[in-house]
This record gives sequence, structure tokens and C-alpha cells, in this order.
Amino acid sequence: MMQEINKSSNDIWKSWQNFSGFENRSFRFTDDMRPLFYKWLGITPESYVLDAGCGTGVFARYLASDLKGGHIDGFDINERFIEYGKNKLDELSLTDKVTLTLDDGFNLSFNDNTYDAVTNYTYIGVLSDPVAGLREMIRVCKPGGVVSCVVATTAIPRIVWQGDYPFDGADELQRLSNEEAGIFAKYARQNTDFNQSEEWHALRYPKMFDLCGLKDIKIHPFGYTFNYNDTSYPIEYRKQLLIKEIEGDIGWIESRYEEKREIYIEHGFDDVKLSRLIALMNRKLEYVRNNFENDNSFEWTGGFNFIVTGIK
Ligand SMILES: C[S@@+](CC[C@H](N)C(=O)[O-])C[C@H]1O[C@@H](n2cnc3c(N)ncnc32)[C@H](O)[C@@H]1O
Repeated sequence: MMQEINKSSNDIWKSWQNFSGFENRSFRFTDDMRPLFYKWLGITPESYVLDAGCGTGVFARYLASDLKGGHIDGFDINERFIEYGKNKLDELSLTDKVTLTLDDGFNLSFNDNTYDAVTNYTYIGVLSDPVAGLREMIRVCKPGGVVSCVVATTAIPRIVWQGDYPFDGADELQRLSNEEAGIFAKYARQNTDFNQSEEWHALRYPKMFDLCGLKDIKIHPFGYTFNYNDTSYPIEYRKQLLIKEIEGDIGWIESRYEEKREIYIEHGFDDVKLSRLIALMNRKLEYVRNNFENDNSFEWTGGFNFIVTGIK
């Protein structure tokens, strides 16, 4: 008997409004890493590739740039993401290499055995039924093709160094941010991220691949960093990225504190500390807005993802 698919995550994602986070993290994908992605994901310049849960298509665009004769299809369940992604492809003249469509990963409209390689960046983890999503990815992959998941995991926190800023209170900002982030990660985080399946959390993906019949299962490392003072990126890009990060963090910290206030207070982080933290973040925002062009503070961020691959 066919098991019923739990599609409860679809409602969340169909109505999700904000995609700036997807676009902001495009720096994770560097030219240096592309040959390794090609090797691990089983892609050649001629490949026909599927990017599942592509969002606005950041990962598809990244992979597409070394294709010669090959093509990438991306699908997502959110109409806004696809619309934005299509405009971006027009803008970058990439429509001959990438096609984005609206589709449901639990019930794909693509035929069996269509793609040379099927991949995704942080998609399977948001599904309420990751096994069903993976089975669909496998169905549309050709026999002998590589099915892969590029995965972020909250088990390994992101690195954030707030930089040696010269404004008054910069050290205190670093201390308070660390304190707040520590309490959030240790005591308040549960159920606040989008990972829908506790059973099939990221670290169990190799087993999930095995259960779904994939062979030659491998796990590859993928790390990234971004230094806001790196002059190989345009200054306006770095400045706007940092401003968006700080603004986003202010909103995110305020809302998570409001939601989990009692837990924070229990661990010594109260309303007074929160308002001091927010005031210092706003001070940093003002500093960045007015001084970024001459700044030498070396704020940077980094993280670890891993890639699970298997052959159909
Ligand atoms: C964390 S986001 C990653 C987006 C994109 N891969 C990126 O990294 O920029 C997860 C994506 O999965 C999509 N998604 C969730 N459920 C889906 C489904 N059933 N079918 C297709 N896409 C889905 C969401 O709309 C969202 O764009």
C-alpha cells in the first residue's frame, strides 16, 4: 500500500513572502568551488540538471555559468520566488541556460529518468516529508545519474566575527550578541527554524539516501566565508549586504526575544539587555552607513555545509 505523503509544509512555503535571504547568500558560491561542485554533483558542461526547490534560482545560476550545451531546470512551489528568478535570468541573459518553473516537489510534472543530475540547496530539509521529496528527485533522475543534497545544519553554528569597529560600545555589542546568540542556540531555538522533520534531520540524510535505493553514497565538505572588507567584491555590494544583514538581525532578534522572552529571562538576558543590544546594533548600522567606504574593521562570517551524493 502506498504511504500517504505529509504535504503540510506546502502551505508555509506557498505563502512565504521574503526571498532577500536567498539572494544575500549568493557569496557562498564561489568560482573556486564550482569545479568541485561539478565533480561531486556529477555535472559536466553538457549535463541536463535539475535544481529542486530552487527559490529565486541562486544555486541554479551559479551552476549554469560553466555549462556548454547543458541546461538547468529549477522548480519551486512559491510563485513569487519563480517570478523574481525569471526576471533575474532575463537581466543576466541566462534564459538559454536556466529555466525556472512552478511545481510541487511532492508531485513533479517531469517525466521519469529525465535528468543527468538532480540536486538542491537546503530544500529537502524544509519538507514535511523529506523521504517523499527525495523519491521524486530520484524518479526524475536517469539511471546512473547523481542525486545530491547540499545541506546546512544547525548542529554546526555559523561563524560571525562582528569586526574591530572603532565606535563606542563595539566590544559590548560583540559580548551582548554572543550572549543572546548563545541562549537562543542552546535554549530557545527549538521549532523556530523551518526544518519540518525531526525524524529525518540533516545528519541522517546518508541513511535516507540508502533507504531510497541510492548507491555509492558519499558525504563531501563545503565551507564558505565572506569578509566584508574583501575588495574583490564591489564596495556597494558589500555595504548593502552588511546593512541588510544588520537590519535583518535587528528584526529577527527582536521577534525571537518577544516569542521566547521567559526563556531568555530565565538565562539572565532581560529587557534591559535586549534594548541595549538593539541600541548598539543601530549604532553600528549608523556607523556602517556613514563610514563603510573608509572602514577597516574586518567583519566576516562563515559556515559549514555538507553535500550528500548517491547514484541512481
Ligand atoms: C530554504 S529555501 C532554499 C531556496 C533555494 N534553494 C536557495 O538556497 O536559495 C527552500 C525552498 O524550498 C521550496 N519548497 C518548499 N516546499 C516545496 C515543494 N513542495 N515543492 C517545491 N518547492 C518547495 C521553498 O519555496 C523554498 O524556496
